[in-house]
Amino acid sequence: MTAARGPLRPLYAQASGSPIRAMLALAGREGMVSLAGGHPDPALLPAEWLRESLLEVAGQLQGRNLQYGATEGLPALREASAAVLRQRGLAARAEDVLITTGSQQAIDLLARVLVEPGEGVAVESFNYPAALQAFRFAGASLVEVPTDAQGMDVEKLEALLRAESPRVLYVVPNFANPTGAVMPLARRLRLLELAAQYGVTLIEDDPYGELWFDTAPPPSLAQLNQQAGSPAQVAYMTSYSKVVAPALRLGVLLAPADIARGVVLAKQAADVHSGSLEQLTLTAMLASGRLASHLDMLRPAYAAKGDTLDQALRTHCGGLLEFDKPRGGMFIWAKLPSSMPLLSTQSWVDFGLANQVLVVPGAAFSISGAAQPWLRLSFANPAHQALRQGAERLGRGLRELAAQATKAAANN
Ligand SMILES: Cc1ncc(COP(=O)(O)O)c(C=O)c1O
Repeated sequence: MTAARGPLRPLYAQASGSPIRAMLALAGREGMVSLAGGHPDPALLPAEWLRESLLEVAGQLQGRNLQYGATEGLPALREASAAVLRQRGLAARAEDVLITTGSQQAIDLLARVLVEPGEGVAVESFNYPAALQAFRFAGASLVEVPTDAQGMDVEKLEALLRAESPRVLYVVPNFANPTGAVMPLARRLRLLELAAQYGVTLIEDDPYGELWFDTAPPPSLAQLNQQAGSPAQVAYMTSYSKVVAPALRLGVLLAPADIARGVVLAKQAADVHSGSLEQLTLTAMLASGRLASHLDMLRPAYAAKGDTLDQALRTHCGGLLEFDKPRGGMFIWAKLPSSMPLLSTQSWVDFGLANQVLVVPGAAFSISGAAQPWLRLSFANPAHQALRQGAERLGRGLRELAAQATKAAANN
C-alpha cells in the first residue's frame, strides 16, 4: 500500500511559508528594530486623505453601491487608473485596465492563466518571494536568469531562452525587491526584442517605479513596447500599496486583450471582484487630485530615510557590508564579505533576536533557497533614529560573527 497523502496537495504540503512573514512576527517585540519588512512607513501613509475620502463615500452610500460589481473593477476606478498609467507615459483606456486585489493577485492570476504545469517561467536570480510562490503553485518550473546591479543580465538571457523555452518572464525593472536595481534603457530594449523573437510573455511588475529619489527610471517595458507597435506581449502591473496604502489591497493590470480575458475568468473564480468599498474609497481619493502632491511628499521622505540608513551602514558596518546608495524604492541589498560564513535563515532569525535587529537573508529571495552572502535591509518602515540604531546593532552583530569566523579558521 502506498502511504496516504495528507489533505493538502503535495505542492502546498511541502511549501515553506514566507521567511519574511516569520520575521515580521518578531518585529513587534519590545525594543526590536526591524529592517526586514518592506512595509511603508506608517507616518507616511495618508490617514487623513483616506479618512476624508472614506467619509465622503460613507455619506453617499446607497444600496446599489453594496451590490456585486464588475469583475474588471469599478468603472470610475478603471478610468482613474487608466489616467494614472497615462501619467506614467502608457497609452491606456479605462477598458484596457483591470483592478486586482493588490498586484499580488495580478501575479497569481497571470501565473494561473499563462503557465501550464511544467512550463518555464524565467525570473531574476533574486526575487520577491510571493511572486516565486505564485509561479510554483501554478506548477511552473523556474528558470534563473543571472542578475547584476543593473537587474536581469539580458545578454545571458538569449541562451536560456533557446535552451529552456520559458513561456513567461517575470521582471521588476524599477527598484527591484530585493536588489533595488533599476534596469537601464538598453537592457529594456534588448529584453523586448528577445521577448518578441522568442514568443515569451513578459510580466512587468512595477510597484516601486514612482518612488524614485533623484531621477525617474527609464520608460517601462510596456511603454517601450507600445512605442514600437507592440511586437511583444507585455502584461504591466502596478500597485496602490506603496503610493497610497497597502490596506486598500488594490492594484492595476494593463494587459493585451486575450490575456486580460483569461485574467477576468480566473478572477471570477478567485474573488469575483475586488472589494467595492475599497474601490469607491480609492476612486474618491484619486478624484481629489492629491496623488501627485502625495508622491511629491513621499519621494523626498523615503529618499531621506534611504540616506539615513546608507550613512549609518557606512559608519557602523564599514568593511562588513558592500552596497550601493539607494536611488529609489525601499531596499538596500548588501553583500557580506567572503570571509563570513553562509548562515541559514534560522541563524539570521537567531542573530536578529540576539542583536535586536531583524534583517532578511538573501536565501529568502533565491530560487533554490540556499544560503547567500546577501542581506536585504529596508529603510522604509522604521523611523530615522531606529534606522541608525539598527545599523549600529547590525554592525556589532556582524563584527562578532566575523570574529567567530576568524577564530574558527585559526583553530582549523
Ligand atoms: C515586487 C513586488 N511585487 C508585488 C508586491 C505586492 O504588492 P501588493 O499586492 O500590495 O500590491 C510587492 C510587495 O511587497 C512587491 O515587492
